[in-house]
Amino acid sequence: MGRLSIPAVGRESEAHPASGFLYSFSSSCLGMLLRPQALLRLWCGGAHSAINLNLELLNLEPAMLSISGLSVRFGGLSALEDFNLAIPPGGLYGLIGPNGAGKTTVFNLISGFLEATAGTIVFRGKNLHRLNPHTRTILGLARTFQNIRLFEDLTVMDNVMVGFHCRSQSAWWEAVLRVPRYVREERRHAGRALALLEEVDLKDAAGEKAGQLPYGHQRRLEIARALATGPQLLLLDEPAAGLNPQETLDLIRFLKRTKERHGLTMLVIEHNLRLVMGLCEHLTVLDHGLTIAQGPPAAVRENPQVIQAYLGK
Ligand SMILES: Nc1ncnc2c1ncn2[C@@H]1O[C@H](COP(=O)(O)OP(=O)(O)O)[C@@H](O)[C@H]1O
Ligand SMILES: [Mg+2]
Repeated sequence: MGRLSIPAVGRESEAHPASGFLYSFSSSCLGMLLRPQALLRLWCGGAHSAINLNLELLNLEPAMLSISGLSVRFGGLSALEDFNLAIPPGGLYGLIGPNGAGKTTVFNLISGFLEATAGTIVFRGKNLHRLNPHTRTILGLARTFQNIRLFEDLTVMDNVMVGFHCRSQSAWWEAVLRVPRYVREERRHAGRALALLEEVDLKDAAGEKAGQLPYGHQRRLEIARALATGPQLLLLDEPAAGLNPQETLDLIRFLKRTKERHGLTMLVIEHNLRLVMGLCEHLTVLDHGLTIAQGPPAAVRENPQVIQAYLGK
């Protein structure tokens, strides 16, 4: 046998205990040199892997979303300053504050509509820096908008079908030529779109133009479209805006059910205190871009700074 043969077990057991470690260490180093991408992975992902490994040792789950030191300026205006938030998998968190506090700005930063001036956003262990919104959607991030953004001239059904496209296996030319594989996939998506419309109670409106739906229905359609992208984290920007008290109660029940059914983590921006108090397990309060309180809803509600800034009392 040549020199590179694997040592016999007997000989290994006679060796110094450290030799096993040295063997694996030196072979790892050799592997790194022979495979530069392994070295790169160690270099780029080392910090997060180490954190994840330590969390595993401590039997803690790493955060679904971890934001640290996030800041953004628009000219002279500091819209967000040193924002920090960690949401565990399955968490149902809320973000509240008066108008202009910076809440939507946080969503724009997480979803890639804005780049931060400083700070990091890590989603499922991946740093989102410079990733475009589309890539973030593929990673499992979905959002709705404060000012509903639907394809108003498309049907309700087509608005949901659009959501499935980011998970499509077909190439564009397969869609143009309508090859059997594409047609089968489209049929599958149509079935799932109808199921989602049933969930949001809009199945009967599947053929209507989205722009003609009542306001509350448009909000639910936007949520269905977000769900169609297959998210793990759903960001909802003021989902109760424009709803009456009964519709708000229905929405709370609907969001809780949806979260369980789809195994989601949720972050909800809301102006309606009744909704966040009944829905969220943790709140962050922003005022003029600054975080003035964080914690369970009951504690946040009693916080004098929150009462002063948010309720204006
Ligand atoms: N793209 C932008 N360019 C300039 N200013 C912006 C932009 N987006 C938000 N702002 C400003 O940042 C502040 C926070 O806005 P926003 O996050 O929308 O507040 P909120 O959602 O809490 O009501 C506001 O003063 C707003 O005018
Ligand atoms: Mg807003």
